[in-house]
Amino acid sequence: MKAFNDLADFSNEEILALIELAGRLDKHPEPEALKGKVLSLLFLSPSLRTLASFQAAMTRLGGGSFVISPEMSIHGLESRPGIVMDGAAAEHIREAVPVIASYGDAIGIRAFAERKSIEADMAETEFSSLIDLIDTPYINMESAMNHPCQNLADWKTMDDLSIPTNGGKFVLSWAYHPRALPLAVPASTLYMAAKRGMDVTVLRPDGFELPEAIMQKAKLAANASGGSVTETDDRDAAMQGADIIYAKSWSSTRYYGDKNGDQKLREEHLAWCVDEPWFANAKKDCRFMHCLPVRRGVVVADNILDGPRSIVIPEARNRMLAQMAILYQMLGGDS
Ligand code: CP
Repeated sequence: MKAFNDLADFSNEEILALIELAGRLDKHPEPEALKGKVLSLLFLSPSLRTLASFQAAMTRLGGGSFVISPEMSIHGLESRPGIVMDGAAAEHIREAVPVIASYGDAIGIRAFAERKSIEADMAETEFSSLIDLIDTPYINMESAMNHPCQNLADWKTMDDLSIPTNGGKFVLSWAYHPRALPLAVPASTLYMAAKRGMDVTVLRPDGFELPEAIMQKAKLAANASGGSVTETDDRDAAMQGADIIYAKSWSSTRYYGDKNGDQKLREEHLAWCVDEPWFANAKKDCRFMHCLPVRRGVVVADNILDGPRSIVIPEARNRMLAQMAILYQMLGGDS
């Protein structure tokens, strides 16, 4: 495997093989599988789970990793092309990225969306410019529109609980958050659930529709897998018979890049905090998923997060297992 960038680059059979491998490595550890291998980790955006789970994954497989981020004691990092570097930054990404990549056998890169232009973010302009600087295998640890490691872990989490594929209902719900967050998780989660063959409903207020190209990509995946994709702002209809509610906040697409416009619109929807009444029409054992971090009492009520519906902790642990499978395939574990 030369790249793990987008679930769309893999067949369902290949995804299921990765999930099976993740389960096997959990039950039957292989602490020497990647002995002597090194993973470079470049975080241009913050993290807890991705940072910790990649390091844990490499250690469990017998390899090593190192982390570089702008918050560390490194020279100031410049990313603008063609800039005259007479300011604070002493190092350009054009040298830093290939140098970091050259120390490892593979590199993981995280660079969130700039959230200035929807066109630039949809085109993955920043992530592509970083990947163009390297020739080692790479893993997308979250870019403008993709979070494939999260998607693989989420798919595994549903498989672990025998959540139905065909006929299973997945509600991807917008939730209130005080800040305008990226589209990477909602866009790629929608795709994941559609590709898994589920009946997916995007529940969101007006002004928070996902981009048409994202909806179309998911609909094509659903058609191929026997699922479906719809969207609505009607919570009762969306939650009817749901197996999963996956909550996430995201930027307004109507006011993308317009902080004030987005803020004004989102503040009309403070009540979009997932709580027990949301589940009135859902399946009795409908589960709550979230990629984390999550704001308690803002995105979701404590009683949901702390109660039996929540599967956010096994979901987060599956990040490590899913990434062990990716690294094993990418860096040449035995089988
Ligand atoms: N879900 C996720 O990617 O978490 P972090 O941002 O903490 O890595």
